[in-house]
Amino acid sequence: MAMRALQGKTYFIRTFGCQMNLHDAERVSGELDACGCLSVSDPAEADIVVFMTCCVREAADQRLYGQCNSCKSLPAPPSGKRVVAVGGCIAQRDGEGLLVNVDNVNVIFGTHAIAHVSELIEAAFEDDERHILTAEDASGSATAMPWHRATSYHAWVPIMTGCNNFCSYCIVPYVRGREKSRTFEEIVDEVTGLARIGVREVTLLGQNVNSYGRDRYGAPRFAELLRAVGETGVERIRFTSSHPKDLLPETIAAMAEVPAVMPHLHLAVQSGSTRILHEMNRRYTREDYLSLVHQVRERIPEIALTTDIIVGFPGETEEDFLETLSLAREVGYAQAFTFIYSRREGTPAARIPDDTPREVILDRFDRLVSVIEDTAFAFNQVELGRRVPVLVEGTSKKNPHMLQGKSPKNQTVHAPLPEGASLDDYLGRIVDIDVDTARTWYLSGSLASDPR
Ligand code: SAM
Ligand code: SF4
Ligand code: F3S
Repeated sequence: MAMRALQGKTYFIRTFGCQMNLHDAERVSGELDACGCLSVSDPAEADIVVFMTCCVREAADQRLYGQCNSCKSLPAPPSGKRVVAVGGCIAQRDGEGLLVNVDNVNVIFGTHAIAHVSELIEAAFEDDERHILTAEDASGSATAMPWHRATSYHAWVPIMTGCNNFCSYCIVPYVRGREKSRTFEEIVDEVTGLARIGVREVTLLGQNVNSYGRDRYGAPRFAELLRAVGETGVERIRFTSSHPKDLLPETIAAMAEVPAVMPHLHLAVQSGSTRILHEMNRRYTREDYLSLVHQVRERIPEIALTTDIIVGFPGETEEDFLETLSLAREVGYAQAFTFIYSRREGTPAARIPDDTPREVILDRFDRLVSVIEDTAFAFNQVELGRRVPVLVEGTSKKNPHMLQGKSPKNQTVHAPLPEGASLDDYLGRIVDIDVDTARTWYLSGSLASDPR
């Protein structure tokens, strides 16, 4: 039914937030493609505009309101009527309440209602009502939907949805629900199928992949899943995110022993102060974290460790912050996503009073970024003079003649495209690059092999 009604309509999707949303957007796009819609790159040409939203920090909320409002000034679309649909985490959090901030939205679909997106949009074309679905028990699974992948060589593969951890600052458990693991067989079959059609790299996704399988009695856990995915023939396996409290020795062993698992671990620390970690409800201490890093490095000495860090959690003192700086130096992060604490209504941390001046927090943020720049620079130096296999993902933004891709450790690597060659000969393929330059955020060198 939805198929005929939406046939020939054009759609545009803008995605905010994390890889979960990126993957959900691929499902929405797949569903609309299956209904006969055509994707366009300009919202002005779209009959359907979809926003996949994020509310992890306040800035993401504000951006949505601006984007929705700007749809009002777009020229009329080809079909004469434009349907604006808001999905993702703000839709789940606010439901109908979203209309207080944006009045030109026709469809609101929560994170649990994504399988219903095409019928909601179809209904919105047929009447002038608002179509809203955010029920936690909305039937249908996103992983059963058609899938429009952004690239042919990489796939985001969700292995579980939701989060049970309730870190005190974080809104995610409230908008994504409880942890729900996909079955082992479904994931392994999916990756096997992806490998067969030429996908070179998969990233297994979950808010905490280390608790994979815990919600299914007797089911295989993450270490077993890594080993099974390692047998599918896919060449590169990555995963994110990993909660330190649940990283088990058997997972570290699987990472060390499965050749396709890339030597990169994103292990969000959030703070280097045990006192703040306790306030954050992270359930590990600074010492626990450092001991884990030690265990990982014992098995995989050159692993790239990356992290997330929050600066300015309520009540963070200079001493707490100095502990974060010293931990970052001690670990020697290859990269870190650094965030200024953003108060999220409804989370326990939102009730903690805080009088740290904004300029103190901004100063700490700058000092942290500078330490991470030092550790990232130092981390990259060991690649100098080495030959590194790189999965080519495109060309450098600044120079279309410079290939750009990722090393096993997830470093960005550049090399000049040979004279007369085209990006198409390299895109999604692996080439060896002899590294002669190592900067803070990238390596560069020269091609040392044909693409394979
Ligand atoms: N589940 C992942 C984990 O624990 O590693 C993180 C998912 S969250 C989408 C990504 C990051 O956003 C978190 O690791 C945290 O650093 C940051 N974050 C979450 N809530 C925040 C808040 N209220 N203010 C600032 N940063 C926040
Ligand atoms: Fe948020 Fe913590 Fe869950 Fe990550 S583990 S999504 S930071 S509650
Ligand atoms: Fe944002 Fe939702 Fe992801 S709040 S970070 S899009 S889970």
